[in-house]
Amino acid sequence: MLSERVQNALNAQIKIEAQSSQVYLAMASWSEIQPGIDNVTAFFYKHSEEERQHMLKLIHFVNERGGFAQIPELAQPQLTFPSIKHAFASLLKHEEYVSGSINKCVDIALEEKDYATHNFLQWYVAEQIEEEALARTMNDKLELIGDDKSGMYMFDRDILTISASVENM
Ligand code: FEO
Repeated sequence: MLSERVQNALNAQIKIEAQSSQVYLAMASWSEIQPGIDNVTAFFYKHSEEERQHMLKLIHFVNERGGFAQIPELAQPQLTFPSIKHAFASLLKHEEYVSGSINKCVDIALEEKDYATHNFLQWYVAEQIEEEALARTMNDKLELIGDDKSGMYMFDRDILTISASVENM
């Protein structure tokens, strides 16, 4: 059985994962109407879907442990971006924020001596390391590319391979 404190923390995390899915879905939709970045668009759609899976995993865990996962109301995410670079900078900032909130959940699980939840959350801890690493790699590459159009062409060409290689690290 989950303590009320753990349950509240996990419900807050459900909202953050749901919001993350919306944030990346908005990036995907914006990116889809920009010319020539089909793979960047595919990356954002895929990322949005992954966040939905993170949310679902938490929902099932809370309900299976005798709690009640509450489906949250969500804020409208940012809809447009000055550039791809801005979108990826915002993605990195968002992932750092998500890591912070996962760490808070881990702290609370330990304080409540809820070792099952602590164990469950280790998957998210590992996932956040990967997601932050991926976001940093993308940002570093975009920094190097600057305004170079052929660089952006290659970034779009390689983005799915880069994300797959970071995921397999
Ligand atoms: Fe589920 Fe990207 O945090």
